[in-house]
Amino acid sequence: VGGQLMGSEPEEFGPAARRLVESGFHVIDINFGCPVKKVMSRCRGGYHLSQPEVALDIISRVRDTVPAEIPVTLKMRRGIDDSSESADNFFMIFDGAYARGLSAITVHGRTVDQKYVGPSNWEFLKQVKQHAGEKTVIGSGDLFSPQSCLDMLRVTGVDGVSIARGAIGNPWIFQQTADLLRGKSISPPDVTEQREVISAHFELAREFYGDKKVCNTMRKFGIFYSELHPQYAEVKKAFIAVKTAADWLKVLDQWYTENAPGRFPPVEKPNPLSLETPAV
Ligand SMILES: Cc1cc2nc3c(=O)[nH]c(=O)nc-3n(C[C@H](O)[C@H](O)[C@H](O)COP(=O)(O)O)c2cc1C
Repeated sequence: VGGQLMGSEPEEFGPAARRLVESGFHVIDINFGCPVKKVMSRCRGGYHLSQPEVALDIISRVRDTVPAEIPVTLKMRRGIDDSSESADNFFMIFDGAYARGLSAITVHGRTVDQKYVGPSNWEFLKQVKQHAGEKTVIGSGDLFSPQSCLDMLRVTGVDGVSIARGAIGNPWIFQQTADLLRGKSISPPDVTEQREVISAHFELAREFYGDKKVCNTMRKFGIFYSELHPQYAEVKKAFIAVKTAADWLKVLDQWYTENAPGRFPPVEKPNPLSLETPAV
């Protein structure tokens, strides 16, 4: 399990990395990708892509603090924007990170400016992997299905993929992708299997957020999970309507008691370089 660091001041990164190591994380990752307004205005996350000297200072401090046997990795977007200066900064940080001993870099093929508008640039990921040679590069962006993961690996040549939005409401995507990679056929979880996982998620969320707040967060996830249900439209409506934790559990009882085959969640905007056909 990896722990990720995000911050503005280089001096804070060493002590923060030490705390993550003491907490037992297996990998320490640094976030130079987050495009959220509040994060950018505090000079954190993706902001560092605009200041390579500071970024490299942070990387050195983390690598120098973390014991050699624990990998330190980096997460980046493909730049701040589409300018050539941004591309130069990207490669300065990218090359400098490996030179300072980082084990892998995950690259999300969107710029910080782009946020989530438009596709992840898989052509750029291909270029980055060719540039990196033997170094480990992990690709990110538009991985909504097992097929899209295989497509990214094939099109870009990256060493691994990092699934993000595609796992929200569909944690089965990891096993399915691993199976598809090994040439096995895959099928969506049936309703009973969905219920087991959704219930476990609810219990973990209740432990973490408490009885009062659990409804808000699990309402959101319920809406995502509903996409896998054979009667997705009705189930989605039912999750949207919940107001309390008790309402939420009633939706589970009403819609997840009788078993039936599940479905793969539709992919609305597949990456242009993926073989996936968009849902109609
Ligand atoms: C709700 C949400 C939270 C995220 N939080 C993080 C984060 O804490 N650290 C990180 O490196 N990336 C984070 N990301 C970015 C994803 O890891 C990923 O790079 C991005 O969503 C592109 O992949 P996708 O198009 O397959 O979703 C987050 C994305 C979303 C949607």
